[in-house]
Parts: sequence; C-alpha cells; structure tokens
Amino acid sequence: MKGIIMRKGVFRFTLVYLSLISTFFCFGCFPAPVKAAGEWNRPRTLGPPKHYWGDIDGFLNRQWQAVLDVSGEALNRFPPQLPEPIERRMALLMLDTVFHDVNAPRLAPVQEFLRYRMERALTEIEGTRVKEGAVIWKLYNHGFVVRTPTVTVGFDLVSGYRMGRRQGFFEIGGDFVDRLVRQCDILFVSHRHGDHADEYIIPAFINQSKPVVAPPRLWADKPIHSKITHLNRDADGFQTVEVRGGKHKLKVIVYPGHQGRTSNNVSLVFTPEGMSFCHTGDQHNREDFAWIDKVGGNHRVDVLLTNCWTADIKRAVKGFDPELVITGHENELNHSVDHREPYWFSYDLLYDLNYPYVLMTWGELFRYKPKTK
Ligand SMILES: [Fe+2]
Repeated sequence: MKGIIMRKGVFRFTLVYLSLISTFFCFGCFPAPVKAAGEWNRPRTLGPPKHYWGDIDGFLNRQWQAVLDVSGEALNRFPPQLPEPIERRMALLMLDTVFHDVNAPRLAPVQEFLRYRMERALTEIEGTRVKEGAVIWKLYNHGFVVRTPTVTVGFDLVSGYRMGRRQGFFEIGGDFVDRLVRQCDILFVSHRHGDHADEYIIPAFINQSKPVVAPPRLWADKPIHSKITHLNRDADGFQTVEVRGGKHKLKVIVYPGHQGRTSNNVSLVFTPEGMSFCHTGDQHNREDFAWIDKVGGNHRVDVLLTNCWTADIKRAVKGFDPELVITGHENELNHSVDHREPYWFSYDLLYDLNYPYVLMTWGELFRYKPKTK
C-alpha cells in the first residue's frame, strides 16, 4: 500500500515537472511578453507601469491605447450581429471617445489601431471563400468589400494615403493596395472627394485590368479618365458591366445622386446570384428624394450601405426599402470633430427604425444571408 502511494507521488511530481519543462520550451526559454489587459489579439510588449508626470502626450497616448485595446477585444468577442449585444455598442461608443480627440489622426495608437484592423481584414479577405449569401467587410471610412460565391465588389475603397499627407503617416503602407485590389473584381467610386476616390486604389484597379465605375467628370483632367467606366446616371435604366474577363456580368443601376451640387453616384449592384447591394457614397440632397422614395418599390434591395449622415436617413431607408442597413462614414478622421460623425450619433439617427441595421467599425465583417421572397 505504502509503495503504491509512493509511486503515485513520484508520478504526480513527474507530471508537474514535465509540464513545467514543456511550458519553458514552448516560450522559447524566455518569459512570455507582458500583455495588456484586453488587447485586441495583437502581441504587444509593455514596459512596467510608469507615471507620466510632465508628459501629457505620453499619458494620453497610453490612455487611448488602453481604451482601443479593450474596445478592440470586446468587438472581437461581440462581432457584428443581430440583435446587437450591449457590450458591442459600449465598445463602439468607447471608440468615439478616442476618435474625437482633436489630434486623433496624428496619434500613434489610433494609427496603429487602423493599420492593424485593415491588415487583419485584408488577410481575412484573402482567406475567405463564400458558399452562400454574402460576406461584407467594412474598411476605412465608407469603403466596403462585398463577396458572394461568384464575385467580389469594392465600393469607395481608400488607402489612407491622403490622410497620410494631411495628418502624418496615417497610410496603410506596404503592398496593402495591390493585395486588396487583387481580391476585388470591380470598384464603384461614388464621387471625386479624396475620402472616396483614392489616387492609389483606382490606378491599381486599372493596372490589374479591373473595371472602375465612377461619375462622368471624375478626374476628367487626368489621362486615366479614359480608362474609367462611366455609366449613365439614370434611375430608370439597367446597365451591364463585365467582370473577371467576361466570366460574369453585373447588372447595375447608377442613380443620379448628389452631395450638395457635386455628382455622387448611388450604385445599386445586382450580383449573378440575384442579390443586390446599394452604396450611397456621400448622398446628401433633398431634391433627390424624387427618385430615392421609389427605389424599393421598383427593385429589390438586399443591403443598403448608407453614409450615416445622409439627408433624412429614415426617409432614405424607407425609400430604398432594404432587407438590411449597414452604415458607413462614421469617424472620418479627416473631418473636424463636429463633422466626424460618431457611432452614438448613428444610434440617435436610427433609433426606432423599422429596419434591421448593423453598425460596424474598420475591418469588421458581417455575413449576410438573404431571405427568400
Ligand atoms: Fe465623404
């Protein structure tokens, strides 16, 4: 009996010893990096906690980094979904507090947050095949990638280089642009403003022989203008664009939208599966309700990708009558803080809306499954 107890004791000791040894070797003989509580799955080594007396910038940088870390982790745990959990809404509102620091675009934690989420989304796009429905990624500002089993459509994709020039090293660098464009079959550009028409993204599509659809006067003074596809801005007419070298055709209606007086294409794109996605660009013009009010009555709209600050968003949603609303353009950091629409403002605008809606931040995806009508 005593011998059995002894053998059990040795056995337990050996197990503990082996597990310690394996732990030691798993971490390559070095202690694991110190992780911030709640970081968004990005390895980060932090030094020991310190005071920032006399270093206000350093203090605020660390504070925003801590908020972005825990918000990012909460968003990972509670991805876009319906109904929306309160934890997710709290995380989005915490992002608002960071992005409404007047200096947000120039702050290292904000830049790191954007770059990391965009790069992570791109890796995800590269590894995703869609079997049914659609996967919708929201990238920076009002940029979206919509992938179905047959095609991948980009809307208002931007690289951030414009912000890099104006705000200092905000661009998503390296080969990001070429990799992103390789993943898409076509790009729809709503209008000429730099947070929608990107001087690196558009040429990359043209260089890869992929169509770019934009308003007629976009970059009319540049040689590349003749290579851009200019569909008629006609609320009543279907037009067709070939993608993947003619393998698939997209039916498109380009609604003659406006941001004030600026021409702004509102594109309703039908995929070969029969799903439709409508991207509004910076639509903001009350006279355009003449056609907006009728869209849903004339055509099925699966997903409306609307700028959150469009004129009378509830009337617009009713006009498009979609299955799902996804907002965009929140926290455009090139805007001054009073026009850097936060997520809380979108929630205010959409309160009591009779349509399902999803708010997303940079780099998130939503899996859309259409109802059969
Ligand atoms: Fe815009």
